[in-house]
Amino acid sequence: MLDNKQRGLYRGLTHYGDIEFSRYLRRSFARSMGYSGDELDRPIIGIADSRSGFNNCHRHFPELIEAVKRGVLAAGALPITFPTVSLGEPFIYPTSMMFRNLMSMDVEEMVRAQPMDGVVLVGGCDKTVPAQLMGALSAGRPAIQLVGGPMMTGRYMGERLGACTDCRRHWSNFRGGDISSEQIEEIEGQLATTAGTCAVMGTASTMACIAEAIGMMLPRSATIPAVHADRLRAAEATGRQAVWLARQNVTPDRIVTQKSVENALRVLLAVGGSTNALIHLTAIAGRLGITVSLDLLNKLSKDTPVLVNLKPTGTHYMEDLNAAGGLPAVMREIRDLLHLDCLTVTGRKLGEELDDAQLWSDTNVVRRRADPVYEGGGLRALYGSLAPQGALIKVAAADERLFEHEGRAVVFDTLEDMADRLDSPDLDVNADDILVLRNAGPKASAMPEAGYIPIPSKLAHAGVRDMVRISDARMSGTAYGTVVLHVTPEAAIGGPLAFVQNGDRIRLSVSRQRIDLLVDAVEMARRMANFESKEPMSLRGYAWLYQKHVLQADQGCDFDFLRCESHDEHRSIST
Ligand code: FES
Ligand code: MG
Repeated sequence: MLDNKQRGLYRGLTHYGDIEFSRYLRRSFARSMGYSGDELDRPIIGIADSRSGFNNCHRHFPELIEAVKRGVLAAGALPITFPTVSLGEPFIYPTSMMFRNLMSMDVEEMVRAQPMDGVVLVGGCDKTVPAQLMGALSAGRPAIQLVGGPMMTGRYMGERLGACTDCRRHWSNFRGGDISSEQIEEIEGQLATTAGTCAVMGTASTMACIAEAIGMMLPRSATIPAVHADRLRAAEATGRQAVWLARQNVTPDRIVTQKSVENALRVLLAVGGSTNALIHLTAIAGRLGITVSLDLLNKLSKDTPVLVNLKPTGTHYMEDLNAAGGLPAVMREIRDLLHLDCLTVTGRKLGEELDDAQLWSDTNVVRRRADPVYEGGGLRALYGSLAPQGALIKVAAADERLFEHEGRAVVFDTLEDMADRLDSPDLDVNADDILVLRNAGPKASAMPEAGYIPIPSKLAHAGVRDMVRISDARMSGTAYGTVVLHVTPEAAIGGPLAFVQNGDRIRLSVSRQRIDLLVDAVEMARRMANFESKEPMSLRGYAWLYQKHVLQADQGCDFDFLRCESHDEHRSIST
């Protein structure tokens, strides 16, 4: 049980030397907010609110947080909300990825600095959930995740639309001249019509599934739509559960372990999740000294089928997955592949939770093991002379005809170069070529989601819809295509991608898990002798900190000073 002298409002009272005076002063300021004296003796549950006018996905958080508060109060604790950085994916410049670590630092420091016994992390949009988990793991205080839930689908002339896979499909049809500018404008108004996160298995949905699979969120809560009453009920239950976690002092390092991280990887593969989620999971695990290697991904990928038939790999939307039984229906199908003895925020083991999950599920949406959407995991790590530390391809969302492909490189040196020349009628490019974009990695430009390189306009008009594309960038979880991403090391720090020239031959082999630049060693050495980095040098502020300390994709793009080498190191900083 909590000892009120050290917990609740009285945590960390050292300000004035005189503890009793500090306590008296803090109580009097707390009472200025209208609290009664009795309330201030309860355990305190902080609620990290990541709402912002620049975050469409989180616009329903006021109602959601009221429900969390109800749960906390009903369980006998005091709920106190506090704001954190908010990252609304479409509105952050230059990339939201650049600020994920900033948000994680904000969450970590504010959870530690303010007097709370536990925290409810309320997030949703792509970077917010990983940032909150990273921060909470480092802070080491009891914590539970709540997500905002996915949007409902919209309609255009009878067709269901979900942000943002359908945004991309219609945009590429528009670029190809199949639909008019009036039509694309009408579609614009119907792609995202409710509060909540993108309606497909994009990064936000994948991270919600990972948060549940890893044990940090209530079972069955990842998929509930943002506007559904069950979402509010889950919020209330989350508030109650936060109080239990705080009273028992169950810290996140008891829940997030090597085994639960493997469970999360299995789920990432089985749901056909976003490539970004691998970076985030690596960063989350890294806060506890747990390594997520690309080799481990490939090992688990071999026998984990994609079972969830959602866009962008399949046909349905998040609201359908929820109606089909949600994540427990998926986990039950791969039960034999999971570590069932992992603890969850409920205080029970994953296996016990799955035993109690409803047995019914819609097999159109959550396929049976015997009838998967895709045999073998949806993601595959590639190695080779072009990516000595690895690269990633989402095979489940790619064109199988391009899996074994050799072609001529068409190189774009920077994002600006690509924007300038991609649609030029003079661009020397054929459908069999391989599009290369570089200087879009973590250090060069905070890794934008530019890896989904548009098909050059003249080829799009000729009906080409997919090509092999390679970059050190990321790709949106809602995108699809034969796209090789996260090439590591990135070009800006002298990775081989920096030395590809127009006309070089590149070979992709998914079956051999390789991506190779077919240039001989002597020629490569000659090119490498003239390396000039395109990494911009920021002189001040957060951009300086980011550039100096960001790690490569294989280490989750976390900052070097935030990762832990081991569980023991984590324990020593979080106590
Ligand atoms: Fe927030 Fe897609 S924009 S989840
Ligand atoms: Mg996204």
